[in-house]
Formats: sequence, C-alpha cells, structure tokens
Amino acid sequence: MDVNKNSASLSAKAKVRVPFGTVSITEESKRLINEAIDSNWVTRGKYVQEFEERFAALFGVKFAVSVSSGTDADALSCAVLYDYGAQRGDEIIVPALTFVATGNAVFQAGFMPVFVDVNRETLNIDPTKIEEAITPKTRAIMPVHLMGKPADMDAIMAIAKKHNLYVIEDAAEAHGAQYKGRMVGSIGNMAAYSLYAAHIVTSIEGGMVITDDENMAEALRSLRNHGIVNKFEFKRIGFSAKMNELEAAVGVGNIKIFDQILDKRRRNLLYLINKFEAFQDTFITLKEETYEKIGPHAFSIIVRENAGFTKDEFVSHIESKGIDSRNLFYSIPTQCPNYAFMGKKIGDYPEAEYCSDNGTHIGIHQHLELEQLDYVVEVVKGFLTARK
Ligand SMILES: Cc1ncc(COP(=O)(O)O)c(C=O)c1O
Repeated sequence: MDVNKNSASLSAKAKVRVPFGTVSITEESKRLINEAIDSNWVTRGKYVQEFEERFAALFGVKFAVSVSSGTDADALSCAVLYDYGAQRGDEIIVPALTFVATGNAVFQAGFMPVFVDVNRETLNIDPTKIEEAITPKTRAIMPVHLMGKPADMDAIMAIAKKHNLYVIEDAAEAHGAQYKGRMVGSIGNMAAYSLYAAHIVTSIEGGMVITDDENMAEALRSLRNHGIVNKFEFKRIGFSAKMNELEAAVGVGNIKIFDQILDKRRRNLLYLINKFEAFQDTFITLKEETYEKIGPHAFSIIVRENAGFTKDEFVSHIESKGIDSRNLFYSIPTQCPNYAFMGKKIGDYPEAEYCSDNGTHIGIHQHLELEQLDYVVEVVKGFLTARK
C-alpha cells in the first residue's frame, strides 16, 4: 500500500489544500472484507481474533479486546472496575480538556467524572492538581494522551499507587506514542484506543482495550456482549459493543502498514514542530521531550495571550486558504452545555478553557506531503507579517 496514493484526490474532493484527516484502507483489507461476506460469517470471527492478536503484539501486551468504538473502549474499561469493588456512582478522575467522549464514557459506565485541569503546554492532566480531587469514592484516574502527547505517567502512577486507584489510559489519540522507553497504553491497568477512520490504526469505526491482566480481559469480553459468561448466562450489566468481521478485516490490513503510517506522520509532526519554533513568541505548539515520542495524531496550535489577534481571526485566515482545522476541544465541565448540570462555572478550569478559547489543531496525516506543510508555514507567516 502506498500511503501517498490518496492525497491528490482527497484534496481535490474536499476543495481544501491541507485536509484534516484521511484513511488508509489496503487492498488486502478489501479482499478480506469480500472473503468474509462470501463466507457468510460477518459477526465476530477469525478476523476479529487475528486483529486482536496483532494489536496486542504491536503494543507489547498480553491481551487486546476489540469493541465498537473508542468511547466503548473507555466505558467498558471503567465498567471492569465493578469486578474490583467499585460501586455505581463512584468517581473517576479525568482531564477537563479532552474530546467529550471521555466524560461521556465515564457516565455511560455508571460513574461520576471528576474533572481536573490540564497544563496548556502539554495539553494533559496536571498531576499536581489530582490529589485534591481524590475523595473516598475515587476508584480510578483516566489520563488522556491528548494529541498523542504522553501524559505524565510517572507522577500519575505514583499518585494511583499511594491512593490505591486503578489507571485507565485514554490512548484514543496516542497510537505509537512512547514514554520513557515504554509504549503508551502499556503503563496503566488498561488502555482504550479509538480506531475511528482518521486514526493511525483504524477499522473505520471501532475501539480496542489492551491490558496485561487476564481477569480484566475476561471481564471486557463479557462486558462487550451484554455481560455474558456462558451461553445465555449474564453476570454483569454489559454493553452491546462488539466489533464485526468487516471492521476487523480493515483493521488487519491497516495494522500491517502501521510502521509506514507512523513514520510518515512522525516525519510530518517533527517537521511542523521544527518549523513552528520560529513562531514560539506567538503560539504554543507541541514539543517533544527527550524521554518521549509523541503519537502523531494532529498538530495543536494555541494563540498566546500577547499575540495581538484572536484564535478566530487566525482560524478564519487559515481556513480561507484551504487549511482544514478543528477546535482544540472544550473544557468539558464548563464549556459543554450538556455538562452544565454539574454546576461548574467558567473560570474553574482556566487552563482547559484557555486551550479551547485559543487553540485549534490541524492534520499531519500520512497523505500530507512536505510541500503542503511548507504551504501551512507560508500561510502562517503571511498572516503574522500582515499583522505587524
Ligand atoms: C481522547 C478521545 N477519547 C475517546 C474518543 C472516542 O473514540 P470514538 O470516536 O472511536 O468513539 C476519542 C475520539 O477520537 C478521543 O479523541
């Protein structure tokens, strides 16, 4: 599979010069999908099993359990904790700044999310603020490796150990990220991945939970299928969250070109990190520390306080030049209206709110070429020069 193949047609179709996302579906995946259809076995079967085995091997863990989405991966991981003494209504600590799915999944599993502010430089949960959020009802910490930037796992694991809490990594955006020589996702008790179309490993829609714990893996397999334990015997309050053979066929083909996709995206990420160093007085952008490798999901750009222009002005300029972008999420408890019932007010999560009010993110995917990234840099330079 040539990871360069789709770029021209995608751009033309979308009428943008730098599209936000893309998907790589290999010829092998197409063949496997047809085989599954012809065999008349399209629900969970041999391709689901092969995909799970390949995923576990890729991430260096014993078990990978496939589910229907990254949100289900988050929710089922939380629900596993009922096997470990958790009660409905207990609390799980999550960062205030993340895709809304993280908070939703905690509720869907029957827990209360307790939001903790982030650090605008790393986009990740601020470990110095976690302990004050712990109560007798806290059962787990769920750090999110936003934009593939590893959360401060040493600090998080130390707090979890001290307070006897589980750690569920939301690695939805962190495929291929590394932290101090370890794969992100293999550090906590479980890690949840989204396999949505635009992500590095994809099954179009889908999710995966990885763990080294056999009992947790067993609970996850039960939970994805209504809490089943034996033929028509149901032990847990489960979900209907199974992956099917067609999705797994896409996943099997796609995971085989993981290295190609990762390398190309890493090249693009490092290229932009380097080019944006020239704009550090104006923007906060991702930085890679020596002890980590960022999983190249997308590239965040946050307008600094003294920049002299607003995020909206910047975004409307780059969008008018054909550079596709997305908001840098929201402070879930204070900026998502569906969370207003929690009674939090603007100002409670200043860092997350700052990132949302002043931040955007753009694509660095495998179908983007360096000329397109040079174009991004030129557009940004042009915008800044015109404002001087
Ligand atoms: C941080 C985070 N968590 C959870 C999810 C949910 O994944 P899905 O869209 O596959 O349900 C996403 C989606 O990208 C995400 O970015």
